[in-house]
Amino acid sequence: MGELTGKVAIVTGASKGIGAGIAKGLAEAGAAVVVNYASSRAGADRVVSEIVDQGGRAIAVQGDVARAADVRRLFEETRKAFGSLDVQVNNAGVFQFEPLEAVTEDEFHREFNTNVLGPILTIQEAVKHFGPHGGSVINISSVASTRATPNSVVYSATKEALEAITRGLAMELGPRKIRVNTIAPGGVETEGVHQAGIVGSDFQKQMVSQTPLGRFGQPEDVARVAVFLASEESGWIYRRTDCGLRRLAIGRAELSGRDPTCRTIRWGRSVTLIDR
Ligand SMILES: NC(=O)c1ccc[n+]([C@@H]2O[C@H](COP(=O)([O-])OP(=O)(O)OC[C@H]3O[C@@H](n4cnc5c(N)ncnc54)[C@H](OP(=O)(O)O)[C@@H]3O)[C@@H](O)[C@H]2O)c1
Repeated sequence: MGELTGKVAIVTGASKGIGAGIAKGLAEAGAAVVVNYASSRAGADRVVSEIVDQGGRAIAVQGDVARAADVRRLFEETRKAFGSLDVQVNNAGVFQFEPLEAVTEDEFHREFNTNVLGPILTIQEAVKHFGPHGGSVINISSVASTRATPNSVVYSATKEALEAITRGLAMELGPRKIRVNTIAPGGVETEGVHQAGIVGSDFQKQMVSQTPLGRFGQPEDVARVAVFLASEESGWIYRRTDCGLRRLAIGRAELSGRDPTCRTIRWGRSVTLIDR
């Protein structure tokens, strides 16, 4: 039995990249998983097949996270298929790295709608579907939220907004046994990053040079932390949200938090979390 046996999880944007990795990781840990996607039906079906072939349970559900009607349908399909909800992973995200002069209104709204409005709409719906035992919300942010990153004015702003959402909702929903945490990865090799031309670029070399482990992340690296935050193993982190674990930075050894008593938390072999 895995640590998530009997749990039900939704992962938004799970047809590829980090979301696909998290969906597979949660399923491997025993959760029934809803693989959400916007347009890549084939990718989502592939992720579902891989999970089912391994003996897991999963369905694919289309839905644009920035559209309230789609989000309601996503949760309704989840209820019909699996009956309940325990874990909500807000991974769906879009990014474009470009100089200030190139930013358009349309691009601003595209990124803010998916990366900020999307998680608000899904969390709004998730709280209605979590049972009396509460639930775990995991928001996928980015080191770009706090690290000064050129050519990233809109994307960085969306991820810092997501951090603010996490901070506020961790306090607002904590009394209802709903834990809200953020994972903020460094560079991870995904379809989206390949498509953006980052792999092999000077930008990638610069990012890697700043990581203690000297390598780009893989979706599985993020998935392992998501499984931890989804499971009872991290139940204490809810109790410490007032002080600490709001942001894990994978491969960069940093953690945002306020309480000076949480200066250093070590967990696992490769993740070191240091309060700033
Ligand atoms: N890769 C990195 O280096 C990195 C680093 C830090 C943080 N992140 C964050 O991690 C998340 C995933 O990034 P990634 O690199 O894995 O991206 P990716 O390979 O481009 O995959 C993005 C996923 O999001 C889905 N998606 C996009 N817009 C959506 C919408 N409106 N509604 C529902 N699904 C939507 C896509 O679905 P379709 O394929 O169907 O369009 C796809 O499944 C993002 O939030 C990103 O900001 C990535």
